[in-house]
Amino acid sequence: TQQALVDRYGRVATDLRVSLTDRCNLRCTYCMPAEGLAWLPKPSLLTDAEVVRLVRIAVELLGVTEVRFTGGEPLLRPGLVGIVAAAAELRPRPQLSLTTNGIGLARAARQLRAAGLDRVNVSLDALSADTFADLTRRRRLSDVLDGLAAADAAGLRPVKINSVLMRGVNEAEAVPLLRFALAHGYELRFIEQMPLDAGHTWSRAEMITAEEILALLRAEVDLGPDPAHRGAAPAETWLVDGGPAKVGVIASVSRPFCGACDRTRLTADGTIRSCLFSTTETDLRTMLRDGADDAHLAAAWAGAMWAKKPGHDINDVSFLQPARPMSAIGG
Ligand code: GTP
Ligand code: 5AD
Ligand code: SF4
Repeated sequence: TQQALVDRYGRVATDLRVSLTDRCNLRCTYCMPAEGLAWLPKPSLLTDAEVVRLVRIAVELLGVTEVRFTGGEPLLRPGLVGIVAAAAELRPRPQLSLTTNGIGLARAARQLRAAGLDRVNVSLDALSADTFADLTRRRRLSDVLDGLAAADAAGLRPVKINSVLMRGVNEAEAVPLLRFALAHGYELRFIEQMPLDAGHTWSRAEMITAEEILALLRAEVDLGPDPAHRGAAPAETWLVDGGPAKVGVIASVSRPFCGACDRTRLTADGTIRSCLFSTTETDLRTMLRDGADDAHLAAAWAGAMWAKKPGHDINDVSFLQPARPMSAIGG
């Protein structure tokens, strides 16, 4: 490492999240409209070789130790397996993970494991086929369940499940999701909904808070203190009925964790975002295509991170939702 990704508040980014596409094969109501969005034009997407080059710079020059591939839906990226394989050859070898909706994972899990992927996080907000279809606007629950099973069988562990709860939509799914995760040995985390949807429909009153989620769960199980309650990871965890099973809550809104943030982000069109909620981006794609060398790209990346804001300010009146929706930033 020649230079670490530090910011003026002393945080060090070692966890890179790479969005590989802004497209998705679901249309979750809290994320995208039914008709989809104006997708990024093909020429502005980084090629596989460009993605791999920037990941290499992050690992070799900038001290990144963990790389997570996200989307949109990253399994829609034709070159995913090759990108994972190239990342696995880097030294020091980064931890490699994928955040996916699980559709197509049944087919891809073994190949991804063989390419060097370490683990997956799968989004699943409902176990009732009808609620799943209402929420995602697609009748694909069984594909997701098959994907989860395949990931587990392929050794992409721990398999984590991410669930977003919405008032009046899927609160009744919280306990079934917990039972399901416990039965299969998956680590479930509930996520507070954040103001990042394309339609700007988020409202604080509609959001189900971490407190409410915990109350829903406590009606069914005992939640005890977890010695590893919260590291730099966004999830706070509790031991279920004495453990070892855990359940997590990612309380981005009610208990922001920006002070411990260790993240840097690369979008599918080659810009660096220092934060999920950044309102500015640093374009590395143009530099790269204009022939910049590794050192210059690394310096621009470091500069982008130095300018990282202390936090997302979700709870301030001055809060501005970023122009890009979550699906184009990478979750
Ligand atoms: P693990 O390393 O497995 O714990 O992954 P993770 O929880 O960091 O990543 P994942 O992609 O599964 O994201 C889970 C949820 O956390 C999603 O809703 C993300 O949008 C949210 N999330 C991820 N990174 C950040 C972040 O930097 N800030 C905030 N506020 N939320 C984040
Ligand atoms: N707030 C919180 N989580 C969200 N996700 C998508 N949009 C939002 C939002 N507005 C979740 C997805 C997936 C993860 C990457 O982010 O459900 O689990
Ligand atoms: Fe980090 Fe921004 Fe996420 Fe806060 S919102 S944890 S600063 S990326």
